[in-house]
Amino acid sequence: MSKQIKNNQLYLGGVSALCLAKEYGTPLYVMDEEVITDAMHLYTDTLKQGYGGHGLVCYASKAFACKEIFRLAKTHGLGIDVVSGGELHTALAAGFDMSKVCFHGSNKSTEELKLAVKNKVGRIIVDNLDELENIKSIINCNKSTYAETSGIGIMLRIKPGVTGDTHSHIKTGQVDSKFGFCADDAAATVKAALGITGINILGLHCHIGSQIFESKPFISAAQIMIELLCKINKETGAELSELHLGGGFGVSYTSDTAPMDFKACLYNIFDAVKTTCTKNGVTPPFLILEPGRSVVAAAGTTLYSVGNIKEIPSVRTYLSIDGGMCDNPRYILYEAKYEMALANKISQPKNKVYTIAGKCCESGDLIGENIPLQEAKKNDILAVFNTGAYNFSMFSNYNRTLRPAVIMVKGGKSRIIVKRETYARLIEDDI
Ligand code: LLP
Repeated sequence: MSKQIKNNQLYLGGVSALCLAKEYGTPLYVMDEEVITDAMHLYTDTLKQGYGGHGLVCYASKAFACKEIFRLAKTHGLGIDVVSGGELHTALAAGFDMSKVCFHGSNKSTEELKLAVKNKVGRIIVDNLDELENIKSIINCNKSTYAETSGIGIMLRIKPGVTGDTHSHIKTGQVDSKFGFCADDAAATVKAALGITGINILGLHCHIGSQIFESKPFISAAQIMIELLCKINKETGAELSELHLGGGFGVSYTSDTAPMDFKACLYNIFDAVKTTCTKNGVTPPFLILEPGRSVVAAAGTTLYSVGNIKEIPSVRTYLSIDGGMCDNPRYILYEAKYEMALANKISQPKNKVYTIAGKCCESGDLIGENIPLQEAKKNDILAVFNTGAYNFSMFSNYNRTLRPAVIMVKGGKSRIIVKRETYARLIEDDI
């Protein structure tokens, strides 16, 4: 159902955006369940069709994490990627199957590793030698618990030396990255891991970056990683049988960027994996992918109430909203572009241009400049589209701003999935 227009008004998942704003207040994150589950199925179905289902799609929960999204991932057959004790704790609270969890992070604390080991997460993605040692000591302290099981599954995070054409803040596959091992150090680390009782080394992982639109870097990374897997197996006698290629598939936020054909990109990756395996005379590995943004971005719309409008003649017109950089820091961080519309007059022409200013005490608190919009008045409802990824999850309480509620819409109905923060909860932990 997604977005619809009826009587000059915006509808999300069959529910009037104006009614949502009225019932739940603004700012408001609205998530469309069908858009999320369709995206989840696109990945799982393509893995089945193009790779015989010999793998797992893990949703990268950093894009949008709350209990309900873990429940959806579980119901629709996905695993998940968590990158902190907090995400892991949320997954546990949602009753997620721990065997389908990949635990990432470049500086996992002992506490976090203990939580992961205790709950037997399926795969810890080991980032560095220190972490391997840390896991070893945790297992040694709990020998009786792990001795009789097949051990804790680990994969090594590798920098394949490939990255995509994207913002420098979200490139991760290059050698100069804080994440993972250099490929040249991988074999020695595998040897070290093979010698640790209670650890079961399963394979290799890489993630080249985020918001990448071209298949080429994904293909190169796949080829490099398969070659490395074969080399390591030969050199060390290990039997690594899993390859985890991360996420990073690009999302078009505005109509001037062509949407990525996810299915075609996955087929290109599968082909690269199979061809490189054939060349090396090995069977294709169990393949893991972990998309985040492309699962949730398009599902999200943020609703704001328009406040004062300040026209500075020959300079610009500021349109103030009741949210801003706290609920959407992506403009100030990456100059990320969004399309917007006034939900209560959506069929009218966009014949004005505004700078959208947030409430925070900071000039940089903008979520867009030169934004074409319908002529705005105070109390109009501004809808900002494609905000489902990395907005709620990067929320900050700057200026003691309250976190908005998150509403899930589906088939003409809405339900609250994260309550709005209150002043009482805001100061709960203050002493
Ligand atoms: N796997 C790993 C190991 C990752 O580091 C990431 C994203 C993903 C998967 C998911 O990537 P995606 O499919 O979402 O592109 N805050 C930034 C994005 C940071 C991405 C960090 N890692 C933004 O708002 O653009």
